[in-house]
Amino acid sequence: MISVRACIAARRGLCSRWTMESGIPGAISQVRQKIDQSFDKYKQLPTCSCQPKQPRLVAVSKTKPVEALQEAYDAGQREFGENYVQELVQKSHHFADMGVTDIQWRFIGKLQRNKVNNLLGCINLKTIETVESSKLADAINKSWQKLHPDGSRVDVFVQVNTSGEESKGGCGPSECTSVVKRIMDSCPALNFVGLMAIGSFSHDYSVGPNPDFKCLVQCRKDVSEALGLDIDAMELSMGMSNDFEHAIMEGSTNIRVGSNIFGARDYSSHNAPTAATTAHPPQPTAPPVAHQAFEQQHEDIEQNLHNLALS
Ligand SMILES: Cc1ncc(COP(=O)(O)O)c(C=O)c1O
Repeated sequence: MISVRACIAARRGLCSRWTMESGIPGAISQVRQKIDQSFDKYKQLPTCSCQPKQPRLVAVSKTKPVEALQEAYDAGQREFGENYVQELVQKSHHFADMGVTDIQWRFIGKLQRNKVNNLLGCINLKTIETVESSKLADAINKSWQKLHPDGSRVDVFVQVNTSGEESKGGCGPSECTSVVKRIMDSCPALNFVGLMAIGSFSHDYSVGPNPDFKCLVQCRKDVSEALGLDIDAMELSMGMSNDFEHAIMEGSTNIRVGSNIFGARDYSSHNAPTAATTAHPPQPTAPPVAHQAFEQQHEDIEQNLHNLALS
């Protein structure tokens, strides 16, 4: 079905790919089609895993207002990735207040240890994809156990900095086994799911596959051999708007797509939530207001640096 917005765009001769294909729902179905096509191709490759896993689509909604997420949700999207702690917590409360219980939030931004308690204020937090050190794993484990004495667990990925760029988070490829070991041995509240990386943006695919994806695949092999873990049970989170099809061909099981779904991000007006600007963003351990403002400023600076690296 073509949306009203797409019809108007067509009549006006606005042939932008994004609007012609009926906005966010159309963009999601296009991405899903491409995922299926790449996955079909991947399954024919000799390098394909013995138990290929249909890649999961995570819609990266950072800086986007809750109305945009609602459109995606109405189109059947359930997994959303966010990079900023406060924004994620606010959005999660907005959807919880609306009675939505089946949304799954994934944190994909840089996580400072002093923000862990705030992050765990997110309702329906399913996964943290950016665990980059044993210390961070310990901190999440401790806080999660305090908040969830029922023994429930949070899924985690260990982020690996495959390119060695300082601007990107993650542990070094040679350190990832020890971080995974720490999680397995000493963090009962964390469910280790796999490894995550941000591929280099400037890679020229005409010269071959992205070495960042190859590196993450090798890290998974190393971790599996060193710790005796089933390699097919270990996920790979890699691939974004510009490279997710390539990532799937390398075995990605979790792709994180933002701009291809929601359009380009506008950081200049970044104060996302809206829809009555999401009435009550409660935090489990809310610091005093002045401190909070300082922390937010600090987080914004960190995130802007991170974004510069990603844009
Ligand atoms: C870790 C991570 N993954 C995925 C994305 C989505 O990127 P894109 O909009 O290129 O799909 C972002 C966006 O900033 C990100 O920070």
